[in-house]
Amino acid sequence: MTRKTKTTAVAKRSKAASTKSKTPRKAKVTRTTKAPESAVEATVAATPANTNAALLARREAAVPRGVASAAPIFAARAENAELWDVEGNRYVDFAGGIAVLNTGHRHPDVVAAAKAQEDLYTHTSFQVVPYEPYVALAEKLNALAPGDFDKKTLLVTTGAEAVENAVKIARAHTGRPGIIAFSGGYHGRTLMTLGLTGKVAPYKKDVGPFPADIFRAPFPDARTGVTATDALNALETLFLTDADPSRVAAIILEPVLGEGGYHPVPVEMWAALRAICDKHGILLISDEIQAGFGRTGTWFAIEHSGVTPDLITVAKSMAGGYPIAGVIGRADVMDALEPGGLGGTYGGNPVACAAALSAIEAIENEGLLARSTALGESFRARFAEIGARTAPYRMWDIRGLGAMLAVEFVTDFDTATPDAAFTKSVISHALKRGLILLACGMHGNAVRIMVPLTASDAIIEEGLAIFEAALADAIAAEMQIAAE
Ligand SMILES: Cc1ncc(COP(=O)(O)O)c(C=O)c1O
Repeated sequence: MTRKTKTTAVAKRSKAASTKSKTPRKAKVTRTTKAPESAVEATVAATPANTNAALLARREAAVPRGVASAAPIFAARAENAELWDVEGNRYVDFAGGIAVLNTGHRHPDVVAAAKAQEDLYTHTSFQVVPYEPYVALAEKLNALAPGDFDKKTLLVTTGAEAVENAVKIARAHTGRPGIIAFSGGYHGRTLMTLGLTGKVAPYKKDVGPFPADIFRAPFPDARTGVTATDALNALETLFLTDADPSRVAAIILEPVLGEGGYHPVPVEMWAALRAICDKHGILLISDEIQAGFGRTGTWFAIEHSGVTPDLITVAKSMAGGYPIAGVIGRADVMDALEPGGLGGTYGGNPVACAAALSAIEAIENEGLLARSTALGESFRARFAEIGARTAPYRMWDIRGLGAMLAVEFVTDFDTATPDAAFTKSVISHALKRGLILLACGMHGNAVRIMVPLTASDAIIEEGLAIFEAALADAIAAEMQIAAE
């Protein structure tokens, strides 16, 4: 049985990484949440047209089914790590709007900064009349990103747009077309980013062909026995069989696979990739859209490895719930395109810039990097305890970095067969009991934790208790089906 060894290895890596962090270690439990105004609940709950079922029916008629929602409820309001639906039901939120809310729902400072900006101007288009918040955010990101060299930052609106632009910049700088990505990686839903994404269903199904000159290498996975050495050997083989390294512009990967199951890149693999890139004049892109902004205990997850990438893509928790994304990189690389070659009407919206500056300040002022490390350690211990007590031989792995953690479910430890049905059952029982969870992984058999780092210990304990009860429900449901 390898599970014990695997978990220990991950725990060791996490510990080693946490000692490298340059940030203050003082962890603070921050915001407490006020109960929702009962009037708000009463109003929304009293309207028959506003029930979850009624809204679901309207949604099904008006919105394409391709836009899936994990929870069949409709949000009425949210605060820090809690959310209330239109019927007044309260939920603990461990999903954080897909890793967007490291600073929690409606962080008061972030909301205040956005409102203050709204009172000045909400849009001019940076390409028509520029504004200071864009420049201030670029300066801040340049200062935070790893690398002892001059940096520049492009701001856009979505994560996929950031990845698209990173590819454009890498191609323009190197004059080469090729991009190498990894199996299980997720980089977005636009056509170039889907080409880079290494998972067919549901993302790539029926919508190809994808752009040319995209190549793929395997990502290490202990369950399937693919090691970092195997992955690097496959990359060298790729250079011989399909991708002439002198025609490759960039290698892009997530420091911790997000949608792909919260697998961290082994530290030795980062170092080897950096050496390969330097040897062949290839740029290294760290896609930090999910793993960044304190989620792993450092500003950027690649900092755990000590390796410096040429470009970093960012989004999600950068602005605490406002849509903004960016590409941070070496100044000489970022300047590759002619004036007018980068941008977009809404890129770096001033309200989102103000929110991002405030969210970054909150991460700094509230000690959220240290909080992430501490939370990661306590979640690991609690999951191990809960798994052993409530679902023996079903929780195959607890992995991740800092508070970017996932637990993976299998049918049994002997075959380690991914169990997506069981995972789905845990998530749906958790929702019924008042906890929002989200799956991830190539087989959809892992639950990822993206709870706000600002959540109080009491809320986290409440969520964990619901998780354990949902696990027991899923086991009981399975036993009932087996008995029938
Ligand atoms: C690592 C990574 N890259 C890119 C994206 C795409 O971002 P967006 O959904 O904002 O386009 C995501 C979204 O989940 C992501 O996790």
